[in-house]
Amino acid sequence: MRHIEILDTTLRDGEQTPGVRFSLSHKTEIAKQLERLGVDAIEAGFPASSKGDFDAVSAISREVKGCSVQALARCIKSDIDCAAEALSDACDPVIHVFLATSPIHLEYKLKMTPEDALENIKEGVSYAKSLCRTVQFSPEDATRSDREFLCRAVKCAIDAGADIINIPDTVGYSVPEEYASLVSYLLENVEGLREKRISVHCHNDLGLAVANSITAVGAGASRIECAVNGIGERAGNASLEEVVMAMRVRRDFCDCDTGIVSKEILRTSRMVSSFAGYDVALNKAIVGQNAFSHESGIHQHGMMEHRNTYEIMNPEDIGADKSTLVLGKLSGRHAYSERLATLGYALDTKGVDATFNRFKEIANKKVAVTDSDIRAIVNEYLDGLEGKYWIDTFQIQSGNHMKAMALVSLRAGDEVFTESAPGEGPIDAAFNTINRIAHADDVHLESYSLKAVTEGADALGEVKVKISSDHGAFTGRGVSTDVIKASIKAYVNAINKWTRAKGTND
Ligand code: KIV
Ligand code: ZN
Repeated sequence: MRHIEILDTTLRDGEQTPGVRFSLSHKTEIAKQLERLGVDAIEAGFPASSKGDFDAVSAISREVKGCSVQALARCIKSDIDCAAEALSDACDPVIHVFLATSPIHLEYKLKMTPEDALENIKEGVSYAKSLCRTVQFSPEDATRSDREFLCRAVKCAIDAGADIINIPDTVGYSVPEEYASLVSYLLENVEGLREKRISVHCHNDLGLAVANSITAVGAGASRIECAVNGIGERAGNASLEEVVMAMRVRRDFCDCDTGIVSKEILRTSRMVSSFAGYDVALNKAIVGQNAFSHESGIHQHGMMEHRNTYEIMNPEDIGADKSTLVLGKLSGRHAYSERLATLGYALDTKGVDATFNRFKEIANKKVAVTDSDIRAIVNEYLDGLEGKYWIDTFQIQSGNHMKAMALVSLRAGDEVFTESAPGEGPIDAAFNTINRIAHADDVHLESYSLKAVTEGADALGEVKVKISSDHGAFTGRGVSTDVIKASIKAYVNAINKWTRAKGTND
C-alpha cells in the first residue's frame, strides 16, 4: 500500500479565505494540533507577504518538530531570503517557490515571455536550493498552461534542484480524468520527474478539488495539499478531512493511505472553524453536524438493526465523542485544564489561568459549560492577546422614543479613550462609537450575526461581525451571556484585526 503525504496549507492558502485572519497564537495552536493530527508537512505562511506571516513561520518552525514546515516565496531573491530566514529553526524546512506558467498569467499578470519565465524558475529554484535542503516548485495555473511548455518549466525546476514538484489547479478548472491525465503526461514526458515527489494542489471552484486530488494519486502523485474544512481562496482548497477519509474508507479501491490520526479530525476541524470564525456547513462531508445524523424512519430502523446499513464510517473514527463531559461551577482547575487538552488546546499556564477565570465567571451564570462554550472562551482569550484595544466600560441608552446613544471607553496600553455616538439602535450606536475611537472612518459593517453557542435560556450568545475597508475584510467574534456585550466584543475584535493590517500596510 502506498503512503500518501498530506501537506496542510490551512495557515497559508486557508488564510486567503476572505475575512479570515488568524492571529499568531491561533496559528501556533493550529500548527500544534496539525502535528498531533499527523500531517507530513505544514505550509505555515508566505513570509515576504507580511510581518505576521514571517513571525508565524518562525514561531511554528521553533515549536513544531514532528513534521516538515514549508514557506511560500515567489521566484524573487528577497522573498526566498525571507522564507529561508523564517524557516531557520525548522527541523525539516521546505522553501516553496512558485511562478505562473499559463499564457494568461504570463501575459497579463507577470508580463513575461515564456523564455523569461524559464529563466526566473531556474534562478529562483537554484537560489532557494542554495539556502534550503528541500525545495518545492509550483507552476501556478498549471492546468491552464500549455502542456509542452509546462514540461519545459518542470524540467527546468528539476535541473535547478527542485525536490518536490507541485501541480496546482489554481483556479479549480480541471475535471478528474483530465487532471490525472496531466500528471501522467508530465510523468511520461519530463525526464527525472519519476524520481521526485509529486504534489497536487486543487482548488474547489467546480466542487472537484477532492475528486481531482484522489484521481491524481491514482496517476502517480504522492502528496496532496489540502486545508482543514476545505477553507482557502474563493471556493477553497481540497478539504483535508475528505481526502483523508476517502482514501481510508476506500483503501480497498485506492490502495493507499495517509499517516493521519483520524481520531484527531473533528477536534482539528472545530478548532480551525472557531479560530477562523467560519461555521462548517451542517451537511459538510465528514465534519458537518449532520454527517452522521439519520432522519428518515427507514434509515433509523436500518441503523438500529446494523449501523453499516447507512454508515460507511463510524463517528468515533474521526473522534466524535458521544459522551460530552459537561463542566459546571463546581469543576476545578484540574478538570478544566484536562478538558482543554482533550479539545486540543495547548495553552501556557497564563492562558489556562486566564481562561479558567472566565470559565468560572460563566459557570456561575450557566448551569453547564459545554465544549462549545470552552472553545468560545479560548477563542476570545487568544483573539484578545494581540489586540490593540480592550473594552474598559460601556453604557448604552436606547428606547422606543429616543435615538440610541452609546458611551464607550476602550483601553490601549496605559491609555483609555472615551467617545460617544448615536446610532439606529444600541448596537449601531456602540459600533459608531468604537469607529470614532479607532479613527475607522472608512470601515463598513458587512455582516452581523448572533447565535446561541448552546441551547437553553442561559446560553452564551456568540456574535460574529464582518467589516471591510481598503485594507481588506476582517471578521470578529465575541461571546457573552449579554448580547450587547458580545456585539461590542466582536466589533472590537474585528477592529483590532483591521488595526493590525493597517499598521502592516501603512
Ligand atoms: O493555487 C495555487 O496555485 C497556489 C500556489 C502558490 C501553489 O496556491
Ligand atoms: Zn492555492
